[in-house]
Amino acid sequence: MASTLRFNGRVVLVTGAGGGLGRAYALAFAERGASVVVNDLGGDFTGVGKGSLAADKVVEEIRRKGGKAVANYDSVEEGEKIVKTALDAFGRIDIVINNAGILRDRSFSRISDEDWDKIQRVHLRGSFLVTRAAWDHMKKQKFGRIIMTSSASGIYGNFGQANYCAAKLGLLGLSNCLAVEGKKNNIHCNTIAPTAGSRMTQSILPEDLVEALKPDYVAPLVLWLCHESCEENGGLFEVGAGWIGKLRWERSLGALVRQRTQPMTPEAVKANWTKICDFDNATKPKSIQESIGSIVEALNKINSGGEVSANPTSRATSATTSEFARAIGHKFPPLYSSYAELDTIMYALGVGASIKEPKDMKFIYEGSSDFSCLPTFGVILAQKSIMNGGLAEIPGLSINLAKILHGEQYLELHKPIPRAGKLRCEAIVADILDKGSGLVILVDVYTYSGEELICYNQFSIFVVGSGGSGGKRTSDKAKAAVAIPNRPPDAVLTDTTSLNQAALYRLSGDWNPLHIDPNFASLAGFDKPILHGLCTFGFSARHVLQQFADNDVSRFKAIKVRFAKPVYPGQTLQTEMWKEGNRIHFQTKGAGLQSTLVFEEIGRRLQGIGEEVVKKVRAVFEWHITKGENTAAKWTIDLKTGSGKVYQGPAKGSADVTITLSDEDFMEVVLGKLDPQKAVFSGRLKARGNILLSQKLQMILKDYAKL
Ligand code: NAI
Repeated sequence: MASTLRFNGRVVLVTGAGGGLGRAYALAFAERGASVVVNDLGGDFTGVGKGSLAADKVVEEIRRKGGKAVANYDSVEEGEKIVKTALDAFGRIDIVINNAGILRDRSFSRISDEDWDKIQRVHLRGSFLVTRAAWDHMKKQKFGRIIMTSSASGIYGNFGQANYCAAKLGLLGLSNCLAVEGKKNNIHCNTIAPTAGSRMTQSILPEDLVEALKPDYVAPLVLWLCHESCEENGGLFEVGAGWIGKLRWERSLGALVRQRTQPMTPEAVKANWTKICDFDNATKPKSIQESIGSIVEALNKINSGGEVSANPTSRATSATTSEFARAIGHKFPPLYSSYAELDTIMYALGVGASIKEPKDMKFIYEGSSDFSCLPTFGVILAQKSIMNGGLAEIPGLSINLAKILHGEQYLELHKPIPRAGKLRCEAIVADILDKGSGLVILVDVYTYSGEELICYNQFSIFVVGSGGSGGKRTSDKAKAAVAIPNRPPDAVLTDTTSLNQAALYRLSGDWNPLHIDPNFASLAGFDKPILHGLCTFGFSARHVLQQFADNDVSRFKAIKVRFAKPVYPGQTLQTEMWKEGNRIHFQTKGAGLQSTLVFEEIGRRLQGIGEEVVKKVRAVFEWHITKGENTAAKWTIDLKTGSGKVYQGPAKGSADVTITLSDEDFMEVVLGKLDPQKAVFSGRLKARGNILLSQKLQMILKDYAKL
């Protein structure tokens, strides 16, 4: 027999618990061991009047049966006070049932401001205020269960209830958001749309139905959703008469009505209307990431001139092994692409080749006698051939592009890549692995010039969350990376990526907005846009080529990498290298501090004008740049002697001012977003020594916003 669901030790707050549904919840929770706060304002069903009788009666009923309860008579508009009652009486708050409600039905044109406002205030704002008051307590204790009460009227619309419908569906939006925000702290929020006989439905439902549809037939769902063993979060349920059903969003496959070079028109929308509204093969997106995934896919397809035909979320992403069999061996349509010197130069700049390094000129100046294409450009055309709509069209798989990660990459060169030309890529699904937490799709891409094989790529694409169907975990087709030797590296090269690195790299063809649009980045769970993994890959290969092959591209044979962690534009990349015979092992790390870039740049800029600046400033500034709790780097800007110097480490003589601030705040200061004076007052910037000299900082730091 299933074990009884108990709530011993839990404190439950039910708003509007003086009658109807709320009363049923309060009684049911108390019966199963919870301590209950019975809140009710005690007014009439339109929100007029107040009184303590309703709440008191329910508290008395609970106590009579041996349960624990206290009454609260505040309106839900006083959320803090109601939660305080729970804390004062029972010392904690675990579960909030937002149930209080009123009705002020009028046909739309007759709704007064007061009718509108009062409904929003009690239902939507009341639920917000009560929940907010409980939220931090739930966060701290890493447990919380919240119920929002919506209504079929809000979900489907109902004559005469515009104010109520708007508030009730607003509660679903609130719940959806709290489900996302609360998840990591084990706070779950679900929404119910109940149907029950109560004083609220007396005037709407026939009398015998009011009798038959007991609130007791709703309460068990609420109790289950609030139990610690229930994993449900962000759900919406219709419930009544002992029946419970779950609702979800469904989205048509839709139609692409825009082409890259043409304006989007209402006529195109009209022409595609049937397709836009056709629910055959509809998707059921579950998160904003899934929703946005299709939009990103559409963008990629428009940019690459393709057609939208696949439905990224039409099927569950987990495929069975027999579906793998259909997918393995699938050939993508061949892709012919022409490229010119412009493209190879743009790629080289995108992966950090620079005129700072004279030996890089061969990659960025087409007039160089030994002008060459960087070997890793070989991934660019290959990547286009699989991103060009092909991934979403693998038979037997339904891949949500918002959930894919580039796991590993192998590139083998058979010939140096021509400086310009027209190449053909042929891609094939080599194998599919099931890693439990996700699928790994191995895609082999062969790139030809005419009949001649130029290069071979293997992409390992990780599809998050779609594994677990028992497929094989390894493949003899997979090109494996060889572990790095267990000794200090033979060589280390560092390179600072610029804040524009991803913006520049994407021009080579990976247009994913994740790398440039902060909104997309935050949807994908990053603080800000991240650098393309293949951009870092290009930096690493360049470092190896520079260190061990004197930039001679003909000596490059093959490279295999695994992408471990995101890198942010502006971070310094450090490639550690080991030589073992003809093979170079390497690992590249984001050295982390964005301020490094600025200090190096200040150093460079001083070169011409140092003497002049020294005359004006006459001070040595020592910088302590912190990351989290620790000092992550020390820099010295010496503007006292000679023509000035910028170097890493503490001041070699004595510093006139020592400034401590975080790497992030340092960037805010140089980008002009944080005023140094204000940063001092707010404690974000600490200065020791001759603090007045700090005012001269502006002179040194201004203009760096353009970096
Ligand atoms: P009810 O009228 O019996 O209960 C609502 C309770 O909330 C009342 O005791 C009332 O005094 C209290 N209340 C009203 N304003 C308050 C305020 N500002 N602060 C604190 N308490 C306040 O109605 P019923 O049917 O039990 O409704 C409960 C919830 O379920 C409501 O949110 C309602 O909109 C919703 N609902 C009910 C349906 C039904 O078929 N009964 C259908 C769809 C939604």
